[in-house]
Amino acid sequence: MKITKAVIPAAGLGTRVLPATKAMPKEMFPIVDKPAIQYIVEEAVNSGITDILIITNRGKGLIEDHFDRSPELEFALSSKGNNSMYEEVVGISKLARIYFVRQKETKGLGHAINCARNFIDGQPFAVLYGDDVIIGEDPACGQLIRAYEEFGLGVLGVKQVPEKDISKYGSLKVENIRDNIFKCTDMVEKPQTPEAVLSLYSILGRCILPPEIFDILDKTTPGAGGEIQLTDAMKVLAQTSGMIAVEYTGTRYDMGNKLGVMKAEVETALNHKEIGEDFRAYLKEIAQTL
Ligand code: UTP
Repeated sequence: MKITKAVIPAAGLGTRVLPATKAMPKEMFPIVDKPAIQYIVEEAVNSGITDILIITNRGKGLIEDHFDRSPELEFALSSKGNNSMYEEVVGISKLARIYFVRQKETKGLGHAINCARNFIDGQPFAVLYGDDVIIGEDPACGQLIRAYEEFGLGVLGVKQVPEKDISKYGSLKVENIRDNIFKCTDMVEKPQTPEAVLSLYSILGRCILPPEIFDILDKTTPGAGGEIQLTDAMKVLAQTSGMIAVEYTGTRYDMGNKLGVMKAEVETALNHKEIGEDFRAYLKEIAQTL
């Protein structure tokens, strides 16, 4: 079955990047001149996704505005003859069919995904975490979709994390199938002891889930941090039918932590067609003073 639907959870509180997130969603942080969530929507569209549900909550209205038409701005741009920016601004509202639903209480990522049940309507679907921007030639979501088409199982987008950090992530039990593709048969969220660590492979930002996940989520009780963890539900899938893990290519930026935000800014600015050259010169100058 072709995967055409995606869910972007964007209802987290973003407490690690306060006070910026007091009134502004972290998903709207600009990376040079585009908000993070636009990179994510573009990745989904470039992977063949046509319908996207964004999970929001109170205070995330900016996200809805960004993907809406903006008649006053469009009029101002076209009357000034700024056609390329006019096309770009209108283009954002036409990227995909975008829908919104509110997660009424911030009860965790698993709870947020469960808000998508009616939208998904019994099909496999992609999940792109709203604060994980992945930049690369081959869209990460598309790499996972290809693995789903080959194996017919849920797929996890993974990378290795440093050993000292694994307790903040999920840890996967994996067996290599070939190259960057693995079978995953177990997982644990935020392992707190070295014995609990299954490997340094962790789910980072992307997955493809079968619709069975919703019945599992209904039965999932709060786990680490008192939240309904998506990992706990995926663990049931991994232990029963098995899942596939793909170590995707592309650089991932975590927009939910301060260093991640700065890395995204700097690396994107260096490659930016308008300011790249000047920014590189500026950075070299600064670097000499460090
Ligand atoms: P995070 O745990 O990274 O987001 O969730 P957070 O809760 O905003 O982080 P901190 O710890 O407070 O800084 C990963 C993704 O899941 C979404 C977030 O928006 C993020 O995209 N999420 C998380 C929800 O949509 N709902 C939730 O209840 C929790």
